[in-house]
Amino acid sequence: MKNSIKIIQPDDWHVHFREGEMLNVVTKYSSRVNRRCIAMPNTSTPITNSIEAINYKNLIQKNSGKNNFEALIPCYLTDNLDIDDFEYALHNNIFIGGKLYPNNATTNSQYGVNDIKKIYNIFEILEKQNKTLLIHGELNRSDIDIFDREKYFIDEELYQIRKSFKDLKIVLEHVSSDYGVDFVKTNINIAGTITPHHMLLTKEDVFKDEEINPHHYCMPVVKNEKDLTSLRNAACFNNSKFFLGTDSAPHHVVDKKQNDSLKAGIFSSSNSIELYASIFEEENALENLEKFSSINGPKFYNLDVNDQYLILDKEDKIVPEYTEEGNIKIKNFYANKKIHWKVAQLEV
Ligand code: NCD
Ligand code: ZN
Repeated sequence: MKNSIKIIQPDDWHVHFREGEMLNVVTKYSSRVNRRCIAMPNTSTPITNSIEAINYKNLIQKNSGKNNFEALIPCYLTDNLDIDDFEYALHNNIFIGGKLYPNNATTNSQYGVNDIKKIYNIFEILEKQNKTLLIHGELNRSDIDIFDREKYFIDEELYQIRKSFKDLKIVLEHVSSDYGVDFVKTNINIAGTITPHHMLLTKEDVFKDEEINPHHYCMPVVKNEKDLTSLRNAACFNNSKFFLGTDSAPHHVVDKKQNDSLKAGIFSSSNSIELYASIFEEENALENLEKFSSINGPKFYNLDVNDQYLILDKEDKIVPEYTEEGNIKIKNFYANKKIHWKVAQLEV
């Protein structure tokens, strides 16, 4: 049994830093272990142009407490982007790519795209510039069951996008189903991020006795045992198409667990790599953690692998219930439960 592991410093390819005091509080939890993060652009005013992206990137870097921490920003794609600015920003690496939020699929997606066919010109630009299309892959329609949204998105949209833009690099974000894993595995130029919570929870942890546990509620919702197993296999067993993306998405704690205050999103960045290490250990796959956390991602994005190392020691720790600072109070994912790894140090 291993008591210590040393891995190339990880990156988080999907995280939400928000803005204002929340950003101030949460950024350091990501920069404590990661060298780079993809900072999702669904802020309350979404990041849709080069100036907003530069400002956001600088703000995150300033709050990270690290000199070499880097936020990579995808453009929040809308029906009415300034195309010249978008092309300029991609060309100058201000945007790492574009993030597609189908309209009203998740938190702050009300500016998202209604008719995906209408932004095919944007996909063409991304493809030409060899930049990535990051996708929230869910179709939110009243006739589609919440557990089937990923499948329907794949069948009705993604399949067609893949066929129409063969060279376009796509990341299916927070893959949540066996069906999604299978699509990523069997198609070209497509990868997937996998969160810790989709490998730890099933729908019974969210929906019980007609009540919703708001702290386990996220988009895409967690699904069945079969899906969880498929995600664990994809992450842990050396498939180079899957990499680390926590989708850590902080929300203020709300007192009343009413539906109208229910916000999708789970906050895990305060214990992210520790949770992943515990999962890989359970699967007897610790030797594959580094590929998932630190190698597959940069390879897919055509970036260098980090040159520092992170050391994790075997040590039990109970996750505290909240992350609290100033006016901010966030429920931690895995609160009051035991994780078995602790970050020891970063090493050159
Ligand atoms: C995210 C958020 O709160 O911004 N919520 C979530 O449930 N995952 C948005 C997202 O990535 O879907
Ligand atoms: Zn997200």
